[in-house]
Amino acid sequence: MKHLIDILDLTPAEIDELIDLGEDIIEHPAKYADKCRGKKLATLFFEPSTRTRLSFEAAMMELGGNVLGFSEASSSSASKGESVSDTVRVVSGYADIIAMRHPKEGAPLVASMKSGVPIINAGDGGHNHPTQTLTDLITIRRKKNTLSGLTVGFCGDLKFGRTVHSLANALARYENTKFIFISPEELKIPSYLRSELEGNPNVTFIETESLMDVMPELDILYMTRVQRERFFNEADYIRLKDSYILTPEKMTSAKDDMCVLHPLPRVNEIAASVDDDPRACYFTQALNGKYIRMALILKLLELA
Ligand code: NCD
Repeated sequence: MKHLIDILDLTPAEIDELIDLGEDIIEHPAKYADKCRGKKLATLFFEPSTRTRLSFEAAMMELGGNVLGFSEASSSSASKGESVSDTVRVVSGYADIIAMRHPKEGAPLVASMKSGVPIINAGDGGHNHPTQTLTDLITIRRKKNTLSGLTVGFCGDLKFGRTVHSLANALARYENTKFIFISPEELKIPSYLRSELEGNPNVTFIETESLMDVMPELDILYMTRVQRERFFNEADYIRLKDSYILTPEKMTSAKDDMCVLHPLPRVNEIAASVDDDPRACYFTQALNGKYIRMALILKLLELA
């Protein structure tokens, strides 16, 4: 049985297949409307979510399946002290596939060891978020026709931003990738990621505090929210939260075909006036998240 815990669980060829399937679903949705008839997806969300949980649920519904689950730890037996292992062991008798978000790094991996059905990591603490990465990759491939040779700027909270860690790991497998990590000193990428990238022949990378210095080089600008819930003290959050605010004025020095991505939710880091710029791709990205999750559910259930 296959789970999706880390984006590196999938080979680049499997990722390409998923994106191809996602694109086919976008073009021919009717073909897929009954594929999951009689199947159930459980969404076990121990942490807040809008897009990830609802896009998983919409994905299963558009495949003709059903959904069940909870959206906060306080409404589940976790609040009574039940372990993740026990919860999953039980729920795998009620559902055919499980999407789980948890504040503890590694919780979905532990769950996958006890589960009788496929587990999808829908975000584990500040660690990984592989289905957001699939969402990012389908959006990049549809915009740029390739996942290789791109200069990708990651901006904001690169320390706690799990979407950054997963996307950087995924793109690091494609040739001639250049990463530009833009963050305040305190929110730089974790050292484990830096050492992995240092040993990777596909990738060159630099770290800087200035978005404006590197803007003209970027093919992709991946903006992120400062992850308030992972800070130890509120004063640090307040000091760092508005480090970067993307505005139409700053966009003037970017390439005409640059693509701005953001996993959302945004707080202040992209001014609403950027939304009308044709290079702002974050709402399309959120929509693509539903289609790629449809593709993922079909693959894990071996229905495609
Ligand atoms: C992200 C997450 O949960 O890590 N959101 C999402 O899933 N689209 C990013 C964030 O919360 O900032």
